[in-house]
Amino acid sequence: MIGTAKAGIEVSITGLGCKVPDRVVTNDELSQHVDTSDEWIRARTGIRERRIAAPEEALSDLALPAARDALARAGVTGKDVDLIIVATVTPDMAFPSTGALVADALGATDAAAYDLSAGCTGFMYALAQAYGMLAGGLAHRALVIGGDVLSKILDWSDRSTLVLFGDGAGAVVLEAVPAQGFLGFELGADGAGGANLWLPGSGSRLFDEPDKHVKMNGREVFKFATRILVQSAEDLLAECQVSIDDVDLYIPHQANVRIIEVATRKLGVPSDRVVINVDRYGNTSSGSVPLAMAEALADGRLQPGMLVLMTGMGAGLTWGSALMRWTMDAAA
Ligand SMILES: CC(C)(COP(=O)(O)OP(=O)(O)OC[C@H]1O[C@@H](n2cnc3c(N)ncnc32)[C@H](O)[C@@H]1OP(=O)(O)O)[C@@H](O)C(=O)NCCC(=O)NCCS
Repeated sequence: MIGTAKAGIEVSITGLGCKVPDRVVTNDELSQHVDTSDEWIRARTGIRERRIAAPEEALSDLALPAARDALARAGVTGKDVDLIIVATVTPDMAFPSTGALVADALGATDAAAYDLSAGCTGFMYALAQAYGMLAGGLAHRALVIGGDVLSKILDWSDRSTLVLFGDGAGAVVLEAVPAQGFLGFELGADGAGGANLWLPGSGSRLFDEPDKHVKMNGREVFKFATRILVQSAEDLLAECQVSIDDVDLYIPHQANVRIIEVATRKLGVPSDRVVINVDRYGNTSSGSVPLAMAEALADGRLQPGMLVLMTGMGAGLTWGSALMRWTMDAAA
């Protein structure tokens, strides 16, 4: 799916918040669980540490503070929101949806609320969906949350996955603005590659399967990631008739520094225009892009007027890019 924003329907991000668990887990700490080392993890992934949720912490415990922060910065309350989408593969439970739980906690009594499953691409899919509902006039103010607590579904004896992931959530408010925000989206899915990143025992196909932990073919996912981050971004830029040289800030999914480096080299984005925080958070799945966005806004790299390119990819296999003109002030 690919499309550009229609003139006259200006939608942008007006609030942004994020939340990670307090507990920092270093590579050395993981080497007490599996046969790995700080040196191997840094060299192959660029990750130094990640945040891990407490045993009693579920997704909504991260999603809610992120959402409250985003709403406050947009100057609105839950009551002012009529759409809530939570992009995640680790909801509090299969149902009720985390979206519905979050809506209740925020007092968003007028909102449609649900969860969206698109692996680590979930936040990009949710952004596009919220944009579509706002541009179509169905909704007027949306809260889009991307977050995961993947630590809960990792096999803590499997070094090939354990070292890659972390927990975290980010939230944005989307609404109509006077200046153009979103310029276009490109989204896709390839179920034929789905077996390269999957969760047995998680649904009606294999409900009785006792193994309920993430399985991954790392090399195949690496090849997919480096190809699709480039292809999706280039397709979207062409659709929007924008050159990569015009992109002021590139926010890729934070899976692995090596993946980001290959993608940015192929795309031709200078390294000072790339947001990277995977070293401190690992791959937080649907939390990754909003966490990186929040960091860039907080440290001044993200300024109103900038052209921002975001691309996610993940289980499905899925991918998604968004191009937008940033409109929110850091002081908001
Ligand atoms: C997982 C990943 C870091 C592995 O890096 P790699 O360079 O491809 O490494 P390989 O899989 O070829 O493994 C190399 C060796 O390291 C070993 N190894 C794997 N994980 C290890 C770990 N955590 N610590 C130490 N050694 C490890 C392997 O067993 C292998 O040993 P061998 O050569 O004796 O067989 C890389 O493939 C990757 O990042 N893939 C994408 C994963 C991803 O982003 N998933 C989420 C997408 S949303």
